[in-house]
Amino acid sequence: MAKILIVYATCEGQTAHIAHEIAGALRADGHEAEVSRAQDAPSPSGYGAVVVGSPVHAGRHERAVLEWVKTHLEVLEKTHGGFFSVSLAAASEDPNEQAEAKRLADAFLFKTGWRPESLACFAGALAYSRYGLLKKLIMRRIAAKEGGATDTAHDYEYTDWDSVLRFARDVAATVPAASAKH
Ligand SMILES: Cc1cc2nc3c(=O)[nH]c(=O)nc-3n(C[C@H](O)[C@H](O)[C@H](O)COP(=O)(O)O)c2cc1C
Repeated sequence: MAKILIVYATCEGQTAHIAHEIAGALRADGHEAEVSRAQDAPSPSGYGAVVVGSPVHAGRHERAVLEWVKTHLEVLEKTHGGFFSVSLAAASEDPNEQAEAKRLADAFLFKTGWRPESLACFAGALAYSRYGLLKKLIMRRIAAKEGGATDTAHDYEYTDWDSVLRFARDVAATVPAASAKH
């Protein structure tokens, strides 16, 4: 059994949802999972593995997550880990958009210097009911580009929960019975 910390930021809630699903999957497999927003997250010291998640907004991952990773890089480099990025580009059927989602995730890791064993780009959601008028219009335009839904009367969730589950298991599988990375 491993003690695993899950750190995330969210704007409209989907990354929080994914972080809690990962925690649920890990707990179901007998691990101890703790979920924390980046701004309140503890030091990763003492955890068997760390999962970090951020949504993409306007082509960038959340600053709070970037800062947390940079602050704790030394410990993270000695700890098993996984990073997940949440975006609409990852929901697209266009391979160029999917490549863009991966490029943004790679750019985040490059910027922080962190090299976790697992990386995933999850499709996010269109939460039209939570957007103000301007955001609704922007998102409708982005959705049209990504092949997403443009009827703003409804919310849409594109996350593939099976791949979230697989990612959680991949991260847990990197942790030997009780050890830090060598
Ligand atoms: C204002 C705004 C800007 C966004 N910009 C991008 C973007 O540049 N690329 C992209 O793939 N998705 C973009 N998205 C989609 C989000 O990544 C997606 O809705 C995700 O589920 C948000 O996660 P959260 O609910 O955890 O904040 C944007 C969403 C909003 C509301």
